[in-house]
Amino acid sequence: MSSRGLFSNRLGFILAAAGSAVGLGNIWKFPFEVGLGGGAAFVVMYLIFAFLLCYPVMITEVAIGRKTQKNPVGAFKALGYNNWKFIGILGLIAGVVILSFYNVVAGWAFGYFVEMVQGNFAVGENFGSFTSDIFKVGIYSIIFMFFTAFFVSKGVSGGIEKLAKVLMPTLIVMILALVAYSFTLPHAMEGVIYYLVPDISKIEISTIGGALRQAFFSLSLGMGALITYGSYLSKKDNIISSATFITLADVGIAFIAGLMMFPFVAFNLGGDMSPVMAGEVGGPGLIFVTLPGVFQTLGSTLGMFIGSFFFLLLSFAALTSTVSLLEVPVSYMVDEFHIPRLRAVALVASFIFLFGIPSLIGNGYSEFFTSGFNIPGSADFMSFLGKLADIMLLFGGCCIVSFAAYIWKKENLHEELAQGYDGYHASFVKTFVNFTVSYVSPILLALLFVMVLLDNFFGISVF
Ligand code: PFF
Repeated sequence: MSSRGLFSNRLGFILAAAGSAVGLGNIWKFPFEVGLGGGAAFVVMYLIFAFLLCYPVMITEVAIGRKTQKNPVGAFKALGYNNWKFIGILGLIAGVVILSFYNVVAGWAFGYFVEMVQGNFAVGENFGSFTSDIFKVGIYSIIFMFFTAFFVSKGVSGGIEKLAKVLMPTLIVMILALVAYSFTLPHAMEGVIYYLVPDISKIEISTIGGALRQAFFSLSLGMGALITYGSYLSKKDNIISSATFITLADVGIAFIAGLMMFPFVAFNLGGDMSPVMAGEVGGPGLIFVTLPGVFQTLGSTLGMFIGSFFFLLLSFAALTSTVSLLEVPVSYMVDEFHIPRLRAVALVASFIFLFGIPSLIGNGYSEFFTSGFNIPGSADFMSFLGKLADIMLLFGGCCIVSFAAYIWKKENLHEELAQGYDGYHASFVKTFVNFTVSYVSPILLALLFVMVLLDNFFGISVF
C-alpha cells in the first residue's frame, strides 16, 4: 500500500469514481437541462457526446492520474511538462467554483429530507421561500460542507467507497420504482414523448452546447477529478473496463432519472408540456418544485416515507460528488505543499463555503445575486457560475486529450492503458482510443468550446 492510500481494490476505485459522477448532475441538473434544451433532441445529443467525446477524456484522465500518482497540477509536472500544469490549475479553480454552488444545492436536498420527514409536502410550492430563508439553507449547507470535509479528511479510499457501494444500487432501485409509479399517473405519456421522441427541428446551438456541458459535468470530467482518483488506482487494474462501467452507470442513472421526472412534470401540468418548452416551468427548481407534490399523491404516511428516503438518497449521491470535488484541491495542497491533510481540508472547505455565499443568497434573498447577472438565458449568480464552470470543464477536457495525444504522446498513453489489460495492443479498443484521442475529441471539443462560449456568454449563435 502506498503512503498516498490506494483504493483497496478495483471495485473501490470504480465505486468512488462512479460516486463522483453520479450526483446532483444526474437527478437535479439533467432533467432541467433536458427541459430547457428542448426535450428528446437534447437527450440524443447528450448520449452521443457522452460516449464519443467524454469517454475518451475519462480514459485519458485516469491514465494520467495512475501513471503519475499525483494531483492534477503535480501530474503534468511529474510527466516533465511544467508548462502544462496550467490545465491542472484551471481544474482546481473549476472544482472550487463548482463545489461553491453545488454545496448550496446539496444543502437544499438535505433540507428537503428534513421537510419530508415532517410531512411538509407544501415545501415544493414554496420553493422560493425555502431557498430565500438563508438562515435555514445556510445551516443546511454548513452541515453539508462539514460532512464532505469529514469524509475527505479520512482519505478517499476510506469511507467513500463503502458509502457508494450501498448507495448506488439503492438509488437505482428507488428511481426505477418511481419510474414505474410515474407511468401510472394521468398524462404520463405526454411527458415520455417530450423526453424520448426527438424533434430534429429543436436542435439549436444551445441544445448542442447544453448537452455537451451536461455530459462533461455529469461525468466529472475536465477538471482533473479523475486524474486525482486515478492516482489512487493500482497498476494491476484495467482502466478501460473501469471507465466503461463508470460511463454506463452515470449515463444510465441520468437516463432513468429523466424517465421518472417527465411523467411527473406532465402530470403536474395536466399534460400540457408547452410551459416546459417555453422555459416557464423548469430550471434549477424543477425537482424541488415537482417532487413533493408527487410524493403527496402517495398518501401522507407512504409519501412521507418515500419522499424523505428519496431526498436522503439524493443527499448521499451529492455527498460522494462533493467529496471528489473537495479532494482535488486538498490533494494538491497535501502533495505540493506538504500541508497536513486535516489542516488542508479545514482551510479549503471554509474558503469554498465562503465563496458559496453569493450562490446561497442568490436564490431569492439578495436581489442583486438573484437577478443581476444578465447572461443569455439566466440572471442569477449560481447559473452564471454553473455556465462558467461548464465552459472551464470543456476547455480542460480539450486540453487534456490534446496534451495526451500530441505532447505526452499516444504511445505513452497506450502503454499505461495496456497495464492491467492483457491483449490491449491487439484490441479494437486501442484503435478507438487512438482515433478519438488524436482526432475526434480534440477537434470537436475545440470547435464546440468556441461555439458554447459565444452562445452562453455573448448570445452569439454561429448557426
Ligand atoms: N458529476 C457530478 C454530478 O453529476 O453531480 C458533479 C461533479 C463532480 C462535477 C466532480 C465535476 C467533478 F469533478
